[in-house]
Amino acid sequence: MRVVDRAIVRLLPAVPRPVVQRLSSRYIAGPTLDDARRTVAGLNAEGKLATIDVLGEEVTKPAEAEAIARAYHDVLDAIAGDQLDASVSVKLTALGLHLDLDLCRSLLGAVVADAAARGLAVCLDMEDSSCTDATLALYRELREANRANVGVALQARLRRTLADVAALAPLRPEVRICKGIYLEPEAIAFQGRQEIRESFLRVLDALLEAGCYVAVATHDEWLLERALGRLAGLRPEEYELQMLMGVREERASELVAAGHRVRVYVPYGDRWYEYSLRRLQENPALAGMLAKATLARVVPGRG
Ligand code: FDA
Repeated sequence: MRVVDRAIVRLLPAVPRPVVQRLSSRYIAGPTLDDARRTVAGLNAEGKLATIDVLGEEVTKPAEAEAIARAYHDVLDAIAGDQLDASVSVKLTALGLHLDLDLCRSLLGAVVADAAARGLAVCLDMEDSSCTDATLALYRELREANRANVGVALQARLRRTLADVAALAPLRPEVRICKGIYLEPEAIAFQGRQEIRESFLRVLDALLEAGCYVAVATHDEWLLERALGRLAGLRPEEYELQMLMGVREERASELVAAGHRVRVYVPYGDRWYEYSLRRLQENPALAGMLAKATLARVVPGRG
């Protein structure tokens, strides 16, 4: 990221919430489960799979974690009821990871069991590095309890990830490999754009070597091309490509037309703020969007 961009990203928390909400609406299905259902049905009609995320993270009360878990059971019910081609993605801090590990374990276990009973999959999103050990430990517990319908996201940004793949390899994990959105210190994370890409490819190679089902989650064309080169020998059902709702949608359609399985990450819910900030900070057009939004507030009728 260029220096000027970093400066703009630092300004984001000062941007009024209604502006953040408007600028980020393309990344989020809407506040309700019905919004997510409609979005996923539309994606399925385009030949795309989906994974639904109930927005929310870092809850501060057990009741909030329980409410988010209930929302996941409703999502699973909706996926099965509407016969949607979708999985769910879960952030463990939303289920109370930092509040009460046992509560988190029990809520997650129930969500994974409910999904398994319906033949649906659950992916554990990977959050910042304070969550990595616990997320991998809970993933391992579930797999060792014969829950085959659970996968996990790994971040190429972290130096440890290759070692994590080696440790998980005997479980033949289903892994979503992504760059990692959380900025981490140099001691534990690669910093440069190119070294993160190189790490991504090393991790992908190690996962394929271990015979894992991989989901390549990136919009980076440089990386996508190289990943596709590595996946070329596999059958379409042996891997998938993943993108976020609202990002490079036409490219996702091209990939579907070329015969790849493509899954779109669809967040919904009313706790949209943190997710929105992360998506905006990655949007290369952020500076222009903010300038236009500011102008529209100063000069009503513009933008
Ligand atoms: P990069 O950020 O370089 O983007 C490449 C290009 O894509 C940009 O130049 C731009 O054209 C376009 N683009 C990217 N983001 C955009 C945006 N917000 N708005 C407009 N254009 C945009 N991270 C994590 O830490 N834990 C996780 O569990 C997940 N899960 C996850 C699931 C899925 C399905 C995806 C696609 C991504 C994640 N991520 C994630 C996020 C991931 O780590 C990473 O931060 C983003 O995907 C951005 O990295 P890219 O590889 O897309 O490259």
